[in-house]
Amino acid sequence: MPPFLPYGRQCISDADIAAVIAALRSDFLTCGPKVEEFERQFAAFVGAKHAVAVNSATSALHLAMCVAGIGPGDRMVTSPNTFLASANCAAFVGATPDFSDIDPVSYNLDPVSLDANWQADTKAVIAVDYAGQQADMPAIAQVARKHGAVVIEDACHGTGGGFVHEGKAWKLGGHPWADMTVFSFHPVKTMTTGEGGMLVTDNADWANRARRLRSHGIVRSPADFVGLVSPSEPQLSAFSFQLLEKGPWHYEMQDLGYNYRITDLQCALGLSQLAQIEAFMARRRTIVARYNAAFADLAWLVTPGLRNPADRDYISWHLYTVQIDFQAIGKTRTQVMAELRRKSIGTQVLYIPVHLQPWYRQTYGYGPGKCPVAEAYYTRALSLPLYPAMTGADVERVQAAVLELAGN
Ligand SMILES: Cc1ncc(COP(=O)(O)O)c(C=O)c1O
Repeated sequence: MPPFLPYGRQCISDADIAAVIAALRSDFLTCGPKVEEFERQFAAFVGAKHAVAVNSATSALHLAMCVAGIGPGDRMVTSPNTFLASANCAAFVGATPDFSDIDPVSYNLDPVSLDANWQADTKAVIAVDYAGQQADMPAIAQVARKHGAVVIEDACHGTGGGFVHEGKAWKLGGHPWADMTVFSFHPVKTMTTGEGGMLVTDNADWANRARRLRSHGIVRSPADFVGLVSPSEPQLSAFSFQLLEKGPWHYEMQDLGYNYRITDLQCALGLSQLAQIEAFMARRRTIVARYNAAFADLAWLVTPGLRNPADRDYISWHLYTVQIDFQAIGKTRTQVMAELRRKSIGTQVLYIPVHLQPWYRQTYGYGPGKCPVAEAYYTRALSLPLYPAMTGADVERVQAAVLELAGN
């Protein structure tokens, strides 16, 4: 039996292992220089002013909601074709997560449908870059900003990638059509820290508040202290003057925060992975091009479409998702997945439309028909193995197995 090819997996080099061992031997396991260095290098890499590293992209999305001031009475609209976290973050802050349909080519939020279904209480949009291909952020930002809503880009799938707008290339996280951008470093993503996420923004106040909320809302810089008591408070006793003292131990909780900290070990790995990301992306693009060529003539399979063909050389592909006409080949998706599994090939279905998840149906009354394009897309979606360590022979094995599905 040939080795199993999962739909995605990390790529860990000797340099990565050495970087983590060096961090283990250093004075800091967490909250040390590697966190700051990772934030600095990541911000420079994507072209953002500020980067805040956290323990997951889910945490980063939650912090994005908090610093944008989204809360009860507000609506946040996202794509139904995403992982739960892109929507759940609005529920975390008491806002209403809502969904607008995707376009049938890129499987990303459709700006026309977003505009047509806009509701007055919508205060934020989270656009997801499905599979790594950018949502139409210039058009989405135009719709959202017209209504005064915050634009957040969930670029969890596309770390390192970019897109072309009016002839100019931009990087995810480093363009003017998102107010904040979130990245994930989960092992199946395009670079990893084990678990981890990043929030980037050009807004210094939002970045500072996100950094504070990352660690219990604690402030340690004397310049920001407000003090525990003021000398004029009537209930001060004779000894209370000691409460005025702000010695070297002093810290203040000025906000209700969380423990969303990421460790130095993880950021040491992140720095090492960042140094390899161009090679990772290039390999992913090569594999995608080979798959596309092999499947181009199949009437029962649609390869990933591009919203803008010029993006081809800039996308950081996380997933290779095809649309299969299962009826045409006379097999269910479960049968297809089992057939490929018998050939040691892993596949995955990404994503079940979030508005159809039982909790969303029960809590918000959403149901089938709300996002028909995403629902139709889901019935045909299948993600094939895609990761940099795949060899040419691995890619050919997947190609052959897919072609054999319909007896080609
Ligand atoms: C689109 C999207 N958003 C958010 C997340 C959450 O990322 P994390 O696992 O780092 O919390 C994921 C993870 O799968 C994702 O795919």
